[in-house]
Amino acid sequence: MHSEPHGQPRHDPKIDEANAHAALIERLERTDAEALLGGGETAIQRQHKRGKLTARERVDVLLDPGTFRELDRFVTHDCTDFGMADKQVFGDGVITGYGRIDGRLVYLFAQDFTVFGGSLSAAYARKVCKVMDLAVNNGAPFIGLNDSGGARIQEGVASLGGYADIFLRNTLASGVVPQLSAIMGPCAGGAVYSPAITDFIAMVQGTGFMFVTGPDVIKTVTHQDVTQEALGGASAHTAVSGVAHFSVPDELACLALLRELLGYMPDNNLSQAPRRETTDPVDRLCPDLDQIVPSNPNRPYDVKDVITAVADDSRFLEVQADYAANLVVGFCRLGGRSVGVVANQPAHLAGVLDVNSSLKGARFVRFCDAFNIPLWVIEDVPGFLPGVNQEHGGIIKHGAKLLYAFCEATVPKVTLITRKAYGGAYCVMNSKHIRADLNFAWPTAEIAVMGPDGAVNIIFRRELAKAQDPISKKAELVADYREKFANPYRAAQLGFIDEILVPRTTRARLIEAFDSLQGKRSRNPPKKHGNIPL
Ligand code: HXC
Repeated sequence: MHSEPHGQPRHDPKIDEANAHAALIERLERTDAEALLGGGETAIQRQHKRGKLTARERVDVLLDPGTFRELDRFVTHDCTDFGMADKQVFGDGVITGYGRIDGRLVYLFAQDFTVFGGSLSAAYARKVCKVMDLAVNNGAPFIGLNDSGGARIQEGVASLGGYADIFLRNTLASGVVPQLSAIMGPCAGGAVYSPAITDFIAMVQGTGFMFVTGPDVIKTVTHQDVTQEALGGASAHTAVSGVAHFSVPDELACLALLRELLGYMPDNNLSQAPRRETTDPVDRLCPDLDQIVPSNPNRPYDVKDVITAVADDSRFLEVQADYAANLVVGFCRLGGRSVGVVANQPAHLAGVLDVNSSLKGARFVRFCDAFNIPLWVIEDVPGFLPGVNQEHGGIIKHGAKLLYAFCEATVPKVTLITRKAYGGAYCVMNSKHIRADLNFAWPTAEIAVMGPDGAVNIIFRRELAKAQDPISKKAELVADYREKFANPYRAAQLGFIDEILVPRTTRARLIEAFDSLQGKRSRNPPKKHGNIPL
């Protein structure tokens, strides 16, 4: 301590200045520390006991280390009803900001269940809207980590308005930046519509659930007993409703999945997905493919074996694996390039198209087209599934969605017919006529209006009725039909198939094909928007 000559402590302005600054920084640090605790230690412990991470822990796991920059940490609500004026928590139940995933910028929110059950207030909605606007304006993906009791009941319509503000932004951002949702806790009531508008939903088994009206309301209105899990858990939405795309065993797996999924996507609709270096040779032969299609056309094989044989490092990220298994969709890389795969699955329902697979395929195709991800279609389809349920379930309009999605897609589109390409399904599955760029077939391809058996039954009905030995006559006619039409040569003659490939060369030829289509320019006629048959 300095002293004045008469014994009084000397006033040093520099020290006062330093102390004042230290006090300011100390206040910030104290306030930060309080904000970082969210709903407090007890609530954090309760969250952990439920097997859930806190919102901040989730953000740390999701993002590259040290890259998170939080915005609006000190926002509080402005509600004064129901004693809320005395209950203020910094951040108000949601953490928002930006950070990096594999070095790429993303914006996000993480709902903090430790604060008012993560319920959404008007102030909270403004925070979410701010980061959504930043994501769109800066062309960066947007990620939502959901864990919330829904609308903040004390705020009434102010909270509902906040949700609607978010729904509008989800819609306007659709097709501009990728939007990913993780359901890591409750997501109920109208709150479900924000994730529903986003491109992909991943749900954590056991803790994540979604429903518009919960078990209690269902019990009151319909007298049905149902648990939360059975009604809106991860299995319900990935295997039954088709609302969600991924069911993951725990939160760490969920966050790892989001990181992986994002790797296949560009930052926005004006950019390309990142290319990844690969040590997998681009000209690698796949000898197993020469024998993969059984000679008996009624015998199944697993189309995923074709995908993994061809893909870089055999890696395939399947989307909606538990829903409509007769159509397989997902992402792989070919020569380092991200590619969306749409494949009929002969190992399930013989690969027929039906209502659910059409919906699944159409949405995936539209995502890839919106975000410049080339499409690889693998076709082995006996047609559309016959049945009253299908017809009354609207297969006409749902099948039309898949057709529409392929027709409107302007990204590079490559089709490989491995076996059956029959009837309307031939047209729908990215045929040459609906602007596929390159159409390949294996020698095992059968491209015709229908299978030989059905065709012979119809066009030779009279001959068969008159035949002395109808069984051997039919076998003869079927063999004749197969020879003439159930092969790729007629389609190749017409130019509907560009090339018949030796199966083992498929990987090399597909990579070359997508390379050749890199500069593709194709536009649809200007319009406000089309009218996809919803
Ligand atoms: C205010 C809420 C809240 C809400 C939970 N909390 N939901 N506060 N508004 N919507 C508070 C609780 O009061 C509690 O506060 C804390 O969060 C934790 O909740 P718990 O009930 O203790 O947790 P848990 O037992 O795990 O149950 C979670 C829950 C349940 C299933 C989500 O809280 C619940 O049913 N909440 C109400 C859900 C709901 O009906 N939301 C409105 C839906 S309609 P304390 O202080 O005790 O810790 C909707 C419309 C959206 O969202 C429309 C958009 C258009």
